[in-house]
Amino acid sequence: MTQSSAAIAPSVLTADFARLGEEAQILEEAGANRIHWDVMDGNFVPNLTIGPDVVAAARKHTSLPFEVHLMVNDPNVLLSRWVDAGCERIIVHAESPGCVHLHRVLGAIAELGARPGLALNPGTPLSAAEPVLDLLDLLLVMTVNPGFGGQAYIQSMESKTAAAAALIAASGRKVELEVDGGIAPATVGRAVTAGARVLVVGSALYRHTDGIAAAISDLHTRINEALEVPGGGEPGEQ
Ligand code: DX5
Ligand code: ZN
Repeated sequence: MTQSSAAIAPSVLTADFARLGEEAQILEEAGANRIHWDVMDGNFVPNLTIGPDVVAAARKHTSLPFEVHLMVNDPNVLLSRWVDAGCERIIVHAESPGCVHLHRVLGAIAELGARPGLALNPGTPLSAAEPVLDLLDLLLVMTVNPGFGGQAYIQSMESKTAAAAALIAASGRKVELEVDGGIAPATVGRAVTAGARVLVVGSALYRHTDGIAAAISDLHTRINEALEVPGGGEPGEQ
């Protein structure tokens, strides 16, 4: 199973919601580095998915780290429930009305013992992350408009991803740079060349003709090619 210095974080948004525990186990066996749970409240985005009890139920089926991507109006409401459900990274959106006090929300995540992440929609400038960069373990550059899997990668986000990589490097802080949306064999090389090192992948895994393990391996191969790492790199951070 090919690995690379980047981490593959499967989104289960396009998995079988009737079998999420088994799906989580399958992802671990297939070589995923972590699992990305897409939480939507039907208000912040025009879609409704899962709550903390579903994630807690899946927690028993895998040892993979969980990150939760909160596409919700007010992430404060259930913050501690995601930690109780076994999520070690909690990603909030700068655009959420409940994040009007973003510095306080990110501090609250850290106080709960979780790793704070900030997601920026395609229309949100990178400058929104600058004042809180010192509070972040992860910065997520959305490469689709949130709400659904299977959308087309927005290539113009590569300049924002590269600027984010430069901002993180200049800060000297260890902040993971993640991209989310439309990541597939045809786009993953561009995304890592722009500086992303955590790749959320949903539909591209589930539609791969040879299955999820082959899809993950193929992505790592393309990542190594893009980074010109002959023979593969050290596995990415879980
Ligand atoms: C969209 C979600 C993404 C998306 C990724 O709102 O945040 O995680 O499901 O799925 P694909 O890889 O299918 O674009
Ligand atoms: Zn997501």
